[in-house]
Amino acid sequence: MSCALCDDTGWKAVEANGVRRVVRCDCWKQNFSTRQLEDARIPPRYRRCDLDTFVTYPNEKLLAAVKQARQFAEEFPAPRKGLCLIGPPGIGKTHLAVAVLRYAIIKKGARGLFYDVRDLLRVIRSTYNPLVRTAEMDVLRPVMEADLLVLDDIGSEKTSEWVDETMNLIVNTRYNERRHTIFTSNYDDTPDDADPDCLKARIGFRIHSRLHEMCEFLEFDGADYRHLPPNGGVDDLVMLWKRSPGRRALPTRSKGPVRAQLKQTDVKGRELGWTGGKAGS
Ligand SMILES: Nc1ncnc2c1ncn2[C@@H]1O[C@H](COP(=O)(O)OP(=O)(O)OP(=O)(O)O)[C@@H](O)[C@H]1O
Ligand SMILES: [Mg+2]
Ligand SMILES: [Zn+2]
Repeated sequence: MSCALCDDTGWKAVEANGVRRVVRCDCWKQNFSTRQLEDARIPPRYRRCDLDTFVTYPNEKLLAAVKQARQFAEEFPAPRKGLCLIGPPGIGKTHLAVAVLRYAIIKKGARGLFYDVRDLLRVIRSTYNPLVRTAEMDVLRPVMEADLLVLDDIGSEKTSEWVDETMNLIVNTRYNERRHTIFTSNYDDTPDDADPDCLKARIGFRIHSRLHEMCEFLEFDGADYRHLPPNGGVDDLVMLWKRSPGRRALPTRSKGPVRAQLKQTDVKGRELGWTGGKAGS
């Protein structure tokens, strides 16, 4: 259907203070953000997530996280820091991250991209060719260059030297280029270096350090939305939240290989520095 404003050229004339200019037509902007949304790899389950429909209830940390997420979205592309959403399963971390991503794409024309970390590594691995790295770079380039990237579920990936290298390359490039990233994770950012399930142990100390400079950390708990009955409301959410075991009671997931990058100490407990970053070491 042809556009009455621009006759499908994508440009329209506007006049202000007697000066005539040519600007992008509304139809072009609409098509552009539709295309950008299609290219953002948002999983079907989350394609309708937005900030206005995110249900809240009297939960101080959750409300603070939603407020910060909204502020980030409104300030995009110039917020000071990205976001790192941390908490137990089902509380809406991915939902919130996607809501911000969609806002940035639709309202700000951002080139946005969503990847679950394990999925990203699988896709990169599937392109792996020891002779030419072009196919690998075809996947990596948009990840490193997106205006806004959501990296979902960091810390859930099984580690190896290659995983470390790849994740470091992605995070370090975005860090150096000052591109915004929203991370989500189930792993607590506890200061306890000996805890194999803390975020630092799961993602490695180099990425962990960059994350702190790149992101505002939003740690919250809440009701597991996946347990909400079909017609459940705010009261049910509050009840589910009160009954939830809380993050500290999450079953440990450290049985698989984790990065052994915890601080080593000698027999007298003096710090010797960091152990190597290889899986299973
Ligand atoms: N506050 C909310 N309002 C509306 N829907 C929500 C809310 N929180 C979660 N949901 C919905 O509940 C489901 C689970 O939420 P989501 O996937 O965002 O949880 P999560 O915190 O990312 O969990 P996990 O740690 O397991 O990845 C999704 O379908 C999501 O859209
Ligand atoms: Mg999630
Ligand atoms: Zn038009």
